Amino acid sequence: MAVLGPESLTLEVPDLAAGIKFYTDAGLLARVDDQIARFRCAGQERDCLTLIGGAARKRLHHIALRAEVLNEIAVNVEEHGGKVVAAPDGHETDGLWVADPHGLLIHLVETPSDTVPPQVAQFEINAPGRIVRTRRSAMLPGHGYKSAEPLKLGHILLFSPDVPASVAFVTEALGMGLADKAQDIIAFCCARRNSDHHVLAFAKSPGIGFHHASFQVGDPDEVGRNGRALTEKSGKGDWGFGRHTIGSNFFHYIQDPWGSWFEYYSDMDFIDDHALWTPTNYGIEDSLANWGPPVPSDFVHNYEVEADG
Ligand SMILES: [Fe+2]
Repeated sequence: MAVLGPESLTLEVPDLAAGIKFYTDAGLLARVDDQIARFRCAGQERDCLTLIGGAARKRLHHIALRAEVLNEIAVNVEEHGGKVVAAPDGHETDGLWVADPHGLLIHLVETPSDTVPPQVAQFEINAPGRIVRTRRSAMLPGHGYKSAEPLKLGHILLFSPDVPASVAFVTEALGMGLADKAQDIIAFCCARRNSDHHVLAFAKSPGIGFHHASFQVGDPDEVGRNGRALTEKSGKGDWGFGRHTIGSNFFHYIQDPWGSWFEYYSDMDFIDDHALWTPTNYGIEDSLANWGPPVPSDFVHNYEVEADG
């Protein structure tokens, strides 16, 4: 029994039109049915994001994870402080719905893995003693590139009031693995086989909430180019271009209409077998980035908790 990867996330939002604009500007494909907007990546056969409009404020409704042997997970959930719960009204009744010890709602589903995107061109870097590109330019004029087309939902980062407890639940009850962490402030979890370095992560906050969802693009150039383009369209904050220490991915984050974040990423560490990976406990100085611009002052602010107050 184990979680195999990320499936989707669902947010309640106050302004559905703003959400549709933001995520379609980001490159996702939308289908809108009254007060519900569903999004997917071009080339993928399932939705990775759902926005439910008409809410008083933005709030994480639930995340969904691909998993197998759900009956064994159901037993583990109860043993590790979670609850098996009924499907919320209006939501799919297949799979297994659980609430973690903090009330985070998780939908475990037995679905096929993402469609593997077509192989992208090699990202070539000329370096001393290693010339791989001659007699041609690496770059097209700026207008020569198409707009963003994210390949897949890679990971979801959530707020947690107790990061070690959240990690204990997803590793012991759901069969995930701890990839790396930075003290008790932030932790990154993977599937135990053939996984991006992290598919689910937790950052410390007074309450649960949604921090960001991250979408893979083809190479570091696409991270920077698409990040800049979405920042100009959204008119809100951003953080990037930069590179994380933990997971090694290049990143660019753009703030969504409600203060949480959308990330483009490329070149993340890959864990084919968690038993052969040694998690590192990093210092706080490495918790956010190896290099990049200054971190926005509200980058780790949980607006969902503030709205409760
Ligand atoms: Fe991320």
